[in-house]
Amino acid sequence: MAIESSCDETSVAVIENGEKILSNIVASQINSHKRFGGVVPEVASRHHVEQITICIEEALSEAQVTGNDLRAVAVTYGPGLVGALLIGLSAAKAFAWANGLPLIPVNHMAGHIYAARLVEPLEFPLMALLVSGGHTELVYMAEDGSFEIIGETRDDAAGEAYDKVGRVLGLSYPSGKEIDHLAHQGEDTYNFPRAMIKEDNFDFSFSGLKSAFINLTHNAEQRGEALDHNNLAASFQASVVEVLVTKTIKACKAYPVKQLIVAGGVAANQGLREKMSATIQIELPDLKLIVPPLRLCGDNAAMIGAAAHVELQKHHLAGMSLNANPSLAF
Ligand code: KG4
Ligand code: ZN
Repeated sequence: MAIESSCDETSVAVIENGEKILSNIVASQINSHKRFGGVVPEVASRHHVEQITICIEEALSEAQVTGNDLRAVAVTYGPGLVGALLIGLSAAKAFAWANGLPLIPVNHMAGHIYAARLVEPLEFPLMALLVSGGHTELVYMAEDGSFEIIGETRDDAAGEAYDKVGRVLGLSYPSGKEIDHLAHQGEDTYNFPRAMIKEDNFDFSFSGLKSAFINLTHNAEQRGEALDHNNLAASFQASVVEVLVTKTIKACKAYPVKQLIVAGGVAANQGLREKMSATIQIELPDLKLIVPPLRLCGDNAAMIGAAAHVELQKHHLAGMSLNANPSLAF
C-alpha cells in the first residue's frame, strides 16, 4: 500500500509488484484552495487529516485486500509541504506498525518518474523530463533507482509559470489545463522569448517568459487595447513547449538512452505531448517515448507504490523515526 500527501491530493493505492494498480484513490482538495489562488498549507494539512483514513479504507476495499495481504507500506516523505507530508507519514507509520509491515520512504519526484512503469516496462539507461508545479528537471537514470539531474530550471518551474500567467488572464488556480485548452484554439502570434534554448547546457529558465507575458498584457491594458486570450495562451505555450522539447531532445542525443519518460503535472499538457512525440519520430525514431495517462501525471499514490518497489528490492527501508523532508532532492 502506498500513501501520498505532499501537496493538495490525499491519495492511497494498492500496487502489485510495482507494476499493477489494484486501487488508486485520489481525494483532491483543489476546490478549497482555488479562492486563495494557490495551495494554503494549513488548509491542505486539515483536509489530509480528514481524508487519510477514508482513503486507506477505500483503497483496501477496492483492491479487496486487508493489512494481512500486504508486503509493505510506502509513503512520500518529501519534497512537499511539511504539514501535509507529516499527515501521510503518521498514517503510514501507524498502519505499518499495527500490521507488522516494513515502511518504505519514497521521494515524490521519483514517484512521478515511476508512474511510467505502471504503463510500460522500463529499459535503462533512460532520460526523464520532470515537469510539475515545483520542478523542471532532466533526470538521467543509468539504472533502476539511480538519478542524476543533468539540467534544471534556474528560476520558475514550468507549472509555476503556467499558474502565474493564468492568474494574469483571470483563470482559477491551477491554470495549466485551462491554458492548454485555450492554446488549442489560438495561434502563436505574440512571439515570446525562448530562454536558454541555444545555450550549451540542459538548464531552463521561465521567469523571463513570465515577465514578457505580464509586460505585454499590462501595456495593452494601459493603452486600452484588447488582446486575444487564445493567441496569448497559444504563444505562451509554444514558447514553453519549444524550450522543453528542444532541451530534452538535445539531452537524449547526448546520453545513450533507450527511453524517454515525460512525467509530472505538466506532462498532462497536450501541446507538449504532441510536439515531443512528433519531434522524436523525426529526430530519434529509435527512442521509446513513455508519457503516463493523464490520471497518473498528477499527484497520486499509485506512482509512489511503483517507485517503492525498487526501494524494497534494495532494502531501502525506514524506521519509525522517519521524518518529512520538505526540500528532499534526488
Ligand atoms: O505534479 P503536480 O500535480 O503537482 C506538483 O507536484 O507540483 O503538478 C501540478 C502542476 C500545476 O502547476 C498545473 O498548472 C500543471 O501541473 N498542469 C498543467 C496541465 N495540467 C496540470 N500544465 C500545463 N498543461 C496542463 N494540461
Ligand atoms: Zn507532483
